[in-house]
Amino acid sequence: TSEALASEIHGTTDLVSKLPTREGWSEPLVLYKNYWFRPHLAANIMHVQNSFKPRHDDTILALNPKCGTTWMKALAFTITSRFREAPISKTSHHPYSPLAAPNFIASWGCRVVYMCRDPKDTFVSRWHFENRVSREPNISLEYAFSMFSEGFSAYGPFWYHCLEYWKESIANPDKVLFLKYEDIILEPVKYVIRLATFLGAPFSTKEEEDGIPEEVVRLCSFEKLSNLQTNQTGEFSRRGNLVLEKSAFFRKGKVGDWVNHMSEEMGRKLDSIMDEKLKGSGLVL
Ligand code: A3P
Repeated sequence: TSEALASEIHGTTDLVSKLPTREGWSEPLVLYKNYWFRPHLAANIMHVQNSFKPRHDDTILALNPKCGTTWMKALAFTITSRFREAPISKTSHHPYSPLAAPNFIASWGCRVVYMCRDPKDTFVSRWHFENRVSREPNISLEYAFSMFSEGFSAYGPFWYHCLEYWKESIANPDKVLFLKYEDIILEPVKYVIRLATFLGAPFSTKEEEDGIPEEVVRLCSFEKLSNLQTNQTGEFSRRGNLVLEKSAFFRKGKVGDWVNHMSEEMGRKLDSIMDEKLKGSGLVL
């Protein structure tokens, strides 16, 4: 009922206001279940926990921010809307464990596509993004780097986010597809075919002969998406003095851009943090 909903929202807002808070990025973040969130998103995740029940044929696209969410949304939509009028995908940056009732993937029955990215490029992408959305003075690269390396960034620590979905993809390979941005950039057709199969919308032999996977890759390419009028103008969202323009989701779309912003020493430092955090998991980023 609306009363129950109002009371839940009130309770959640109250709970979020009591969480540990830390400043540094374009807005303060709150710590909830070992992850840092923008406050309204911590409230959001609590609602999701309480009331989100996916259908068994849903697909959740779960990505760390700046790892190519927009691209993955376009790929999954283009692939699945070959057959259906409505998209079947839902997008979520939510980390695994705060969301998960024990064994939620098995109990929900839906599919999850996860994509990660080289943390150095992800960090550089985030740094640019934060300075695009905020009207406050710019956050220096060095300061942002120290926060990110500590695990303090929206939906961070970055490594836990990746690691939890990685482990789930090993435990439930039919339900969780784990992809890497760099792999898809390198061999887009191969991965589009794999994604289509996972999404239950495989390409037929005839479609492959007709070059449909190549067409999906072309339609979702950085060049194509970033030049669409709808992605070049207008706002995605606005909260207080944070204004997010749609064009902020398209910057360069390249692998290895970090070298143009970070020192080699910073690169080595982040690599060694990742090695340490992911040790023994089989995941290499
Ligand atoms: P860069 O800032 O390195 O260019 P998200 O959508 O998760 O916020 O990720 C944004 C990153 O994905 C940005 O990275 C953006 O340029 C890149 N991106 C957006 N569309 C893309 C596409 N079609 N192909 C590859 N990268 C894309």
